[in-house]
Amino acid sequence: MFPDVIKLPAELVVRLRGPYEGMRVCVTGGAGFIGGHLVDALQALGATVWVIDDLSNADASHLAGMMDLAPDQVNFIHGSILEDAALRTAVTDAHVIFHLAAVGSVPRSISDPERSWIVNASGTVRVLEAARKAGSKRVVFAGSSSVYGDDPDLPKVEGKPPRPRSPYAASKAAAEHACLAWSSSYGLDTVSLRYFNVFGPRQSPESEYAAVIPRFASRLLAGERPVIFGDGQQSRDFTYVANAVLATLLAGSCESPLRGEVINVGAGKRTTLLELAALMAELCIDDGRAITAEPEHRPMRPGDVMHSLADISKAATILGYKPIVGLKQGLADTIAWQRGLPASKPDSA
Ligand SMILES: NC(=O)c1ccc[n+]([C@@H]2O[C@H](COP(=O)([O-])OP(=O)(O)OC[C@H]3O[C@@H](n4cnc5c(N)ncnc54)[C@H](O)[C@@H]3O)[C@@H](O)[C@H]2O)c1
Repeated sequence: MFPDVIKLPAELVVRLRGPYEGMRVCVTGGAGFIGGHLVDALQALGATVWVIDDLSNADASHLAGMMDLAPDQVNFIHGSILEDAALRTAVTDAHVIFHLAAVGSVPRSISDPERSWIVNASGTVRVLEAARKAGSKRVVFAGSSSVYGDDPDLPKVEGKPPRPRSPYAASKAAAEHACLAWSSSYGLDTVSLRYFNVFGPRQSPESEYAAVIPRFASRLLAGERPVIFGDGQQSRDFTYVANAVLATLLAGSCESPLRGEVINVGAGKRTTLLELAALMAELCIDDGRAITAEPEHRPMRPGDVMHSLADISKAATILGYKPIVGLKQGLADTIAWQRGLPASKPDSA
């Protein structure tokens, strides 16, 4: 059965099953938030998936469930992409490698920049080398909109030079360049997807580095005021995880060669944090009970950018990508998950 969260329309399931059925793929960071949803979708499409994850920012509970459900299709290596033997095993015979393993937080990179660099930049070089030696066809790299930094122009278009403002963004920009260089030097197909603020079920609200949507949801559901760093006028292109997974599947199965292309993956719409807090408060109303929506403001954090909005026309042209789930439905499903309820039935964006 296709996972509820991903909500791929039937014609897309048919289209994607063609390339993925029976294909062996590797997902680095596949125990994590986006990686876990990607593994669900790949399994449902009939792929054989090898996950490598050191569980530094995840637990294995979701994967363990997937392995019980499909023991012939889902395999897990508990190890780091920095360990050659573990990585070699994970990528053996992998046609496509989805490289999502990373230390994925701006504040964490500011407190420990070297760790972010080693895992995100050097780790990507190791994945590219492993892919090359294994004879893999393609590496799909999880890049980040953070590489645009404080460039004030909106929407963000891929052709502009990166202006990273944090060690995390710098490590992601370096990794994109490595992908391009490995395509040019060794003929390995690579593509960097610049994800814009991905959210959805199973994104942890707990860590001090948690993303804004799960943090808002847990505060609102506990009857507390959401906390905003800054005045709340900063805006983001919030991308429901089903949309990010769809773009990733399309990138892995795209028939044209990809030679280090950089492609934005977003919803193509922007929402301020004040608008987000109000919308989420509305969705959190339970049995008519009033929700304390008035945000609590704290000082802006270093490395945070003011506005972000993806131009998704390149993703449409090259990958045939179009978002399938809108913000409101994605938020409703995320809040339902945080309340412990199942996701709603598929709907259009
Ligand atoms: N969530 C977003 O909004 C967003 C936005 C832009 C880019 N990205 C990128 O997408 C990818 C997935 O993000 P996510 O939100 O699912 O994060 P996540 O932290 O949930 O997933 C990353 C996974 O990588 C694993 N990992 C970390 N270091 C590792 C190592 N050395 N070896 C093996 N595994 C390792 C972690 O345990 C975790 O399971 C990351 O590369 C992230 O930088 C995410």
